[in-house]
Amino acid sequence: MSIKRKTFAIISHPDAGKTTLTEQLLFESGAINIAGSIKAKKTQRHATSDWMEMEKQRGISVTTSVMQFTFQNSILNLLDTPGHADFSEDTYRTLTAVDSAIMVIDAAKGVEPRTKKLFEICCQRKIPVVTFINKIDRNGLEPLDLLDNIEKNLNISAIPKNWPIGTGRLFLGLIGEHECPCSPDQAQYQLANSDFELAKSLSNAIDQEYLDGASTPVFFGSALKKIGITDLLTYLSQTAPSPSVASTKTRTVSADEEKLTGFIFKIQANMNPKHRDRLAFMRICSGTFRKGMQVTQVRTGKKTNLNQAVLFLSSERSLTDSAQSGDILGIYNHGGIQIGDTFTEGEPLEFIGIPSFAPEIFRIITIKNPLKQKNLQKGLTELAEEGAIQVFRPLAYQSTLIGAVGHLQFDVVAHRLLYEYQVDCQFQQASSQSVRWLDSECDNALEAIQSQYPTHLARDSFGRLVYLVPNMAHLRLMQEKFPDLYFHQTRE
Ligand code: G4P
Repeated sequence: MSIKRKTFAIISHPDAGKTTLTEQLLFESGAINIAGSIKAKKTQRHATSDWMEMEKQRGISVTTSVMQFTFQNSILNLLDTPGHADFSEDTYRTLTAVDSAIMVIDAAKGVEPRTKKLFEICCQRKIPVVTFINKIDRNGLEPLDLLDNIEKNLNISAIPKNWPIGTGRLFLGLIGEHECPCSPDQAQYQLANSDFELAKSLSNAIDQEYLDGASTPVFFGSALKKIGITDLLTYLSQTAPSPSVASTKTRTVSADEEKLTGFIFKIQANMNPKHRDRLAFMRICSGTFRKGMQVTQVRTGKKTNLNQAVLFLSSERSLTDSAQSGDILGIYNHGGIQIGDTFTEGEPLEFIGIPSFAPEIFRIITIKNPLKQKNLQKGLTELAEEGAIQVFRPLAYQSTLIGAVGHLQFDVVAHRLLYEYQVDCQFQQASSQSVRWLDSECDNALEAIQSQYPTHLARDSFGRLVYLVPNMAHLRLMQEKFPDLYFHQTRE
């Protein structure tokens, strides 16, 4: 029988402890021997602001963007969500390829803005979330206050699965972890236990609620001090959802179907600028991957042999145990693969639910040499195809707007345009805060907004009509004024 996969991501605000936790999960499962290797790479990456340097280290980030390890008869696939400066749409999109997530919260800070944003995407996608409240070895908020903070900020019930006996310097151990160093007679234990019982009694502690996204199980711990890691891993390997079904335009695909199907959720480009090679990350939704097998890229109808595919396997697995539903495959290519593309061994299906997310930072792009206009257009088209940035062309004036969710994306675009397309570009501030993709059953509404507000509209690189949001108040007014229009936050 095949081993079930648990494919998950870790979401957090910078500095909450995602890297440290990742490392401890790998260490606890035996996948790495020395804690500190990932951390060292991360420090290296941050030590340089020079994109060329980061580029050289791409090899590292590719191999760590999917980490597979085994724990208690489960195979876990941990997909990295880029954070800090390299936060980008990839971070959001990785959440389309996982079945669950761990949310790391700093015990001294509670829910922070980026955690909230990423949690909202998990909610939209109905991805169950387990919470790890990190840094209980330091003085932080009271455990009951932390649960309250999660419930109020995220509108989800928080169900404790363990409980700290004291925090910071007074921390004695965890109730719930198999080896509690504290005797049940001690006053601190009794105090903590009564809070634990109270918190549990306020919630309906059933795992089905977690799987339905109505509650989040909460584990207290410390990634740095290796506290609470086993509890978290055990819960993940036993209770987190395995791949089940995925929706396509025509039907749902069950994870145990025989024929291989999968979709592309991320493209890592430019491993070698001279060759323009790209690595497309495919989440397998059904079937089993065999090296050299023939699949069809449904959008183009092109048949491909998967000879140039890389598997992200844990070191423990035997060679015969190939990739299957829930696993990630890396496909080397020279372009022609887009985010959202479906590959199948059988009938032509098209997976849905791999959207583009509305950018949050905008710049107007200009070039120094007007003769390079054609190169610019080609470069932007290809970069948009990869999902590296989004491109918008305003209806009312001649300019090109670039949208991103992380600042580093602009540096990457400038660098790649120069080295791959020989275009020297500059960016100017743009006033948009966001975009909404417009759509309506009523053609009149679409015509009306185009004739009345042309200066607020643009087309994306796929020709879709978008409204450039100058501020949220303006958006609300437009929604009131055009009740027949849909203002979508994502584009399929
Ligand atoms: P991130 O990936 O979410 O950005 O966070 P990261 O793991 O890098 O952790 C951010 C900082 O928090 C690091 O300290 C890390 O050592 C610390 N940290 C993580 N988990 C715990 C914990 O359980 N307890 C305590 N006390 N600290 C924790 P730093 O000083 O920024 O880095 P470093 O010098 O330790 O490498």
